[in-house]
Order: sequence, then structure tokens, then C-alpha cells
Amino acid sequence: MKINIAGHYITKIGELWDKSLRDLLKEAIDGAIENSQISPKTIDAVFVSNKAAGSFENQLHLGALASQMMKGNPPAMRIEGACASGGIAVVAAQMALMSGQYKTVLVVGVEKMTDVDSNQTTQILSAAADYKTERGSTFPGLYAMLAQAHMREFGTTRVDLSAVAQKNHVHALDNPNAHFHKKFSLEQISESMLVADPLRLLDCSPISDGAAALVLTTRNLKNKAKILGFGQGQDSLDLVGRKKLTELKATKVAAQKAYLQAKIKAKQIEVAEVHDCFTIAEIMAIEDLGFFSKGKGGKATTAGKTTYGGKIVINPSGGLKASGHPVGATGIKQIAYLAKLIEKGEFKLGLTHNVGGSGATAVVHILGK
Ligand code: COA
Repeated sequence: MKINIAGHYITKIGELWDKSLRDLLKEAIDGAIENSQISPKTIDAVFVSNKAAGSFENQLHLGALASQMMKGNPPAMRIEGACASGGIAVVAAQMALMSGQYKTVLVVGVEKMTDVDSNQTTQILSAAADYKTERGSTFPGLYAMLAQAHMREFGTTRVDLSAVAQKNHVHALDNPNAHFHKKFSLEQISESMLVADPLRLLDCSPISDGAAALVLTTRNLKNKAKILGFGQGQDSLDLVGRKKLTELKATKVAAQKAYLQAKIKAKQIEVAEVHDCFTIAEIMAIEDLGFFSKGKGGKATTAGKTTYGGKIVINPSGGLKASGHPVGATGIKQIAYLAKLIEKGEFKLGLTHNVGGSGATAVVHILGK
């Protein structure tokens, strides 16, 4: 069953001191409904994606909060899967549509991260790692270990990491809602503040506020982007349980399922929004999704193969690195951004890739017309 993306909306992403969690949630809901031109009364249910509003804002029960903002007070639920909450919420919404129970649903993702200081934010985020075996670790620290393994095994270099950040900051210049609108040279990136060796400030996605929403329907609509296939994969929550540190098994499993369902091959994908929470994550993603062979992702990026005029456009929005990473909203904003590009006819076939934790959960969606 093909699911139509009837409406999409992304708020401004960034350090939004003048906007509350509620403001962002309401703006995204209203924006997606308006964009869909579907009567709000026909929305059968609401799926809310959020990672940690209980810790950031002392606010839980976001399903009820979203429902009360909508006409008819539709049934609502909140879905959590760390930074993959958005991708999973879309999967849950698709299941509800495919069951035939609902015809049209709204999926909204929101995160308000900047009302606490960065130390608290780091601590709150680290709850998505394995508290028993990885206690005290941070996500920059965990991804730094993946980067070290990739550099050691495949010769991925400092310049390759910087090339990812440089490209994504350039792409974000075309995205009015992006967190950053600033270009950086390879040297500025390579010499930025060290966070967790080898990852530096400009290798990291930022701490962002923001929201995004989609209206999904099984009704047949012309000229709208459609979900052609999807897949979800899992792996051990901690790094110590992984067979390899140079790939994310969850991504490979999710991609295989999505390609099979959409009946397409990786080489047919023209554009992808991938989960570049750290520069090394984009390099691993473009390999694990089958766009480049294992170990070649860094060199491909440095050679310009992942931008306009190359083999495939990776992260036209600026990715998490430059368009921002309001964790619970990220998976929804990836799909919303790609749906818009496909609707406008800029690309025919695209993919989104959303990861939770250091790769324990991954969700892949394939979009086309
Ligand atoms: N990319 C580019 N610039 C960034 C940035 C980033 N990731 N993070 C902060 N900045 C900029 C700020 O805008 C600010 O610029 P200004 O001085 O011109 O205003 C400057 O760097 C310092 O910002 P600050 O907020 O003090 O940074 P910080 O040291 O508190 O946080 C990180 C920096 C990298 C530690 C933080 O962004 C981080 O933890 N990122 C990872 C988030 C994460 O783990 N997400 C989950 C992934 S699984």
C-alpha cells in the first residue's frame, strides 16, 4: 500500500529562546495541516515523536498535548526511540494506516533542548546509550570510537571528516530553516575545538530546538510524494555487543528491507537525507546504505561525489550537522524536507535514514512520486 505525504512542515531549527515546546508543537501541526489542504476534521489520529521532553521540560504526555491543539481531539500517542523517534513514529503511523483502521493521520516530532545548559543536555542525551555498560559515556565519545575504528581500518582521514561538515554547511545555505547559515573551510573544521578525539566541534551536530510534521494518508493524491518502501533494523544497545565498529548493522538491515519493498536498488537513489549526527556517521551511512563500498565513503565525500554534480546528493538540507538536530523531530524533518524536493520535481527517488543512539535502531524510508 502506497502512503501519500499529503502535507509537510518544518519550523525554524536553532536556539529558539522565544519559542516554547508548545509553540513549536502547535506551529508544526498547523503548518502541516495547512500545507496538506486536507480538512483538519478528517485526521483520524496523531503520533507524536519526542525523545526527552520529560527531562528537558518536565513535560510528558505529549500525545494528549498535541491532540488538544487539534480539531476533534483525535486519539494520540507518543513514540520514543532516541534520535530515531521520528522515523519510528512514521513507521507506527504507517502501520495504523496499513491496518485500515485510519485513513489520514498526523505525525509530529518536537524537541526543545536549549532550556537547560549543555552539560545537562549531554547527560540527558546519554540516557539513550546503555546505562549499565556505557555509564559516563557521551555520544561524541561513542561516535569518536567508531571514527577511530574506521580511520584505523580504512585509512579515513581528518580531511575526509572535515569534507562532510564543509559540504553540509554549504548545503544548509539553501535551507532557510537551517540552524546554521555559515560556510567553513576544511582548515577551520579540522582545527575547531576538540570534543572527543578525533571529533571536533565542527564534526558534531548541534543542540537544537525545533519541530516538524507530516500528514500521511492512504487517499490517492496527485503530485504528492509517496512512501514507496521502509525498513527498520536493530542492533545491540551498547558498542561492546557489536560484531564490527566500522558499520551499523541496523542501517544495513533497514536499508535491505526498504529496497526490497520499494523494488529498487541503491544505485537508483538520487538524493538522501542521512543521519550525520557526527561526520563519521555520514561516512558510515553512505557505505551501509550501499551508495559507496565499505571504506570508500570518506574519499568519495572528499572527491565531491556526495554533492550536486556528483554521484548522489547527500543531505541537501544541510543534514543534522548544519540544519540542526532537535532529536525527536529529526526523523520527521528529514522526510518533510525530502518530500518537498520530490514534490517540486527536483528529484524522482530519494531516501531518508534516521538512527537512534550509537546505531542500536535505524529506520530507512524511500520516497518517490
Ligand atoms: N556545529 C557548529 N557550531 C556549533 C556547534 C556545532 N555542532 N555547536 C555549537 N556551535 C557554535 C555555537 O553557535 C557557538 O557559536 P558563537 O560563539 O558564534 O555563538 C559556539 O559554537 C559555542 O557554542 P556552545 O553552545 O558553547 O557549544 P558547546 O560547547 O556547549 O556545545 C557541542 C558544543 C559539540 C559539545 C554540542 O553541540 C554537542 O554536544 N553536540 C552533540 C549533540 C549530540 O550528541 N546529539 C545526539 C547525537 S547521537
